[in-house]
Amino acid sequence: MEYVGSTLFAWLLLVVLVVYSRSPSSHLPPGPKGLPLIGNIFDLSLKELWLSLEKWAREYGDIVYIHVFGTGLVFLNDAEVAVDLMDRKGSIYSDRPHLVMAGELCGGYNIMSFTGYNDQFRRQRRLMQRALTPLVIKNYHPLLEMETIPFLKRLLSKPTSYVDHIRRYAGTLTLNVIYGHQVTSDDDRCLKIAEACADVLANDIAGGGFLWLVDVLPFLRHLPMWAPGSGFKHKAIKWKAQLTEFATVPYDEFKENMANGTAKTCYCSTLVEAAGKSITEQDEFDIKYSANTMYSASLDTTITVVTSFMLCMVLNPEVRIKAQEEIDRVVGKDRLPNFTDRPNLPYMECVLSEVFRWTSPVPYALPHRLMEDDTYRDYFIPKGSFVFANIWNMCRDERMYPDAHAFVPERFAQPADEETKKKRDPKNFVFGFGRRRCPGMYLAEQSTWLLITSMLAALDIQKAVDEKGNVIEPEVRYENSVFRMPAPFKMDIRPREHARKLMNL
Ligand code: HEM
Ligand SMILES: *[C@@H]1O[C@H](CO)[C@@H](O)[C@H](O)[C@H]1NC(C)=O
Ligand SMILES: *[C@@H]1O[C@H](CO)[C@@H](O)[C@H](O)[C@H]1NC(C)=O
Repeated sequence: MEYVGSTLFAWLLLVVLVVYSRSPSSHLPPGPKGLPLIGNIFDLSLKELWLSLEKWAREYGDIVYIHVFGTGLVFLNDAEVAVDLMDRKGSIYSDRPHLVMAGELCGGYNIMSFTGYNDQFRRQRRLMQRALTPLVIKNYHPLLEMETIPFLKRLLSKPTSYVDHIRRYAGTLTLNVIYGHQVTSDDDRCLKIAEACADVLANDIAGGGFLWLVDVLPFLRHLPMWAPGSGFKHKAIKWKAQLTEFATVPYDEFKENMANGTAKTCYCSTLVEAAGKSITEQDEFDIKYSANTMYSASLDTTITVVTSFMLCMVLNPEVRIKAQEEIDRVVGKDRLPNFTDRPNLPYMECVLSEVFRWTSPVPYALPHRLMEDDTYRDYFIPKGSFVFANIWNMCRDERMYPDAHAFVPERFAQPADEETKKKRDPKNFVFGFGRRRCPGMYLAEQSTWLLITSMLAALDIQKAVDEKGNVIEPEVRYENSVFRMPAPFKMDIRPREHARKLMNL
């Protein structure tokens, strides 16, 4: 009832209210013609939206404009355009849409990914960037390496729960890097709270694509708690409490450890020590909530990339075999790979690049809200538009990646000049653009490399076989509209012979 779109009543109200909707000007960028007033709402099937977007890009070019109830949605289909706007004009392209329900009422604005382009954003963003440079991340290598074998063992002990194991791996790693918190059991309190919250965020608050009736009719936020239809306010109170607990429990534990001298070096300890005795309430707020933001931003992304990697291995056994030959030759069979091996594993590097490109984990990034009217290449782009980098399309540019829908790591080994090599590196797009670009990109890139290289070194991941000996083709489905996360599929995971010893099986 409270999600926009769930009732006819909501739709009618919306149509009536949008009489002031902007009439499309001839200078807007091209795009499919929508209906009057309501615009292209029916063109926007949330399921696998990237396929429609790719079609529009082919039809209309580098920039596509559509509108929904008068709010422009602008898709930047080419990396150069995304750099021109989001990077070069970062001062007006770095805001986020205002969300009354998720942001204001549920407290989502404390999570930096949702915050507008304001001082709080700038302060927290600076903290994160300083803590997540390639140089700082080197300190975390031993930690990343330590988590690998426990992950592989859990995966082998119950392969069908692979998504849970990846979530646990990402959660454990982040709790450790951010709070110095050591997870020792599945019942860990911090882990449990975090997982419950990730679920509330993804499935309850964002259940209807983040847009609630109150987002479109903001005056509803003044509805008294006893009034009919105020159910969303009761839910918001409950969820806000949960999100607050999520931010508070691990941080308070860290502070106790700090006080009694048992804190490990981590994101929080580094910042608290740097601030010294003069630490202010605002400093603490920023540390606490930037930590919380990183935690929530790392779960679904890691799950998306690692499950996609597994799917790629199931569908392309020749790639797995070739990568395993390289690892066996370079690393040998007496140990698992570590970061020292990375420069000596060029094919693995191609596999990683192709996993990022083929997956396009966050296919159109998160929306940036344009803060002023803008013009670009004779087009008028209205203030308030939501601007999306169409990463999916950049990763499937046939000029750069022939046969772009196929998974072919060898494409990155093709000889090319330095400039082309730089341009075709998908790490330049899959983390987004401009001042909102993923601050966790180096950590994500490095932990993904280690995890998938270790998985290939130790495991055979291939198509499952049923009792009658028939090969089961994995069913490839995508249900989430923000992350391109393959829905659970069947596969066979087993240890390679020499790896049993390495993992103490
Ligand atoms: C492979 C894994 C990952 C991918 C593909 C990825 C990708 C992205 C993308 C596309 C965005 C949106 C950028 C934009 O709005 O233009 C983003 C935002 C963000 N990511 Fe990541 N990410 C990954 C892992 C991580 C990790 C591990 C962390 C934390 C340590 C993290 C922290 C964040 C944060 C805090 C934001 C919000 C930035 C802002 O609003 O300014 N990400 N990420
Ligand atoms: C320090 O505080 C933590 C968190 O409350 C606690 O688990 C730990 O036992 C304490 N250690 C000492 C030495 O007091
Ligand atoms: C990786 O393993 C090799 C061989 O055991 C060792 O020499 C090297 O120091 C290790 N590197 C790291 C980063 O642990």
